[in-house]
Amino acid sequence: MAVVISCVLLSFLAKLATCADSDPLQDICVADLNSSVTLVNGFPCKPISQVVGEDFRFRGLGVAADTNNTLGLKITTINVFKFPGLNSMGISAARADFGPFGVNPPHVHPRATEQFFVLFGQFYVGFVTNDFKLYATTLQPGDVFIFPRGLPQFQLNMGSSPASAFVSFNSQNPGVMQMPHALFASDPEITDAVLARAFGIPLDGSSLKQMKDNIRAMFPKL
Ligand SMILES: *[C@@H]1O[C@H](CO)[C@@H](O)[C@H](O)[C@H]1NC(C)=O
Ligand SMILES: *[C@@H]1O[C@H](CO)[C@@H](O)[C@H](O)[C@H]1NC(C)=O
Repeated sequence: MAVVISCVLLSFLAKLATCADSDPLQDICVADLNSSVTLVNGFPCKPISQVVGEDFRFRGLGVAADTNNTLGLKITTINVFKFPGLNSMGISAARADFGPFGVNPPHVHPRATEQFFVLFGQFYVGFVTNDFKLYATTLQPGDVFIFPRGLPQFQLNMGSSPASAFVSFNSQNPGVMQMPHALFASDPEITDAVLARAFGIPLDGSSLKQMKDNIRAMFPKL
């Protein structure tokens, strides 16, 4: 809360709000993922005497992942949990592989702006701002698209061949809220009375249950 208030104050006073991850106070801090210290904002550092060059390398993004699932999608994330060398660096990345007409459903990254660089394939992508305006376009190999932090966004492979993108985030832990999953497949579930009224779905029919079942079947495979 204090950080939010500071950001708001900064933006008013200096018209300069840089509220991504906090600045590091040391050169490197390879995450000790095994630390028993409670996670506050990032991980404690591994002892410097044990840090090696390989701590700053992530290997294996050169190969497309298996996208044979209902959404036709596999996101290989490289956040601090997978790549401890990212700790305190304020960035992370992902490889997004899409099968034919695969889709990354509307979702939100609460802690990061995203830069989406098309490796191959053709995409239809977009995001929606707080005034409900959709900013969408098509992308081809070599194109870069920016998704602002915290706004609902999506990507669709427009072609019958695989498509892939390299994605960067300005946070070591951008987070992802898949909206269908968050709303219809939370644990425990949001009560039907809320969802039926909010989405105009009959409470007594089977359509709400059908939607929940479909979404539950899709998301564990992501
Ligand atoms: C965490 O523990 C596992 C298994 O005990 C070990 O393989 C790994 O190297 C440890 N990671 C760090 C960062 O200390
Ligand atoms: C995709 O997965 C389904 C079910 O898991 C399987 O039957 C099918 O053979 C797979 N297709 C390919 C091309 O791997």
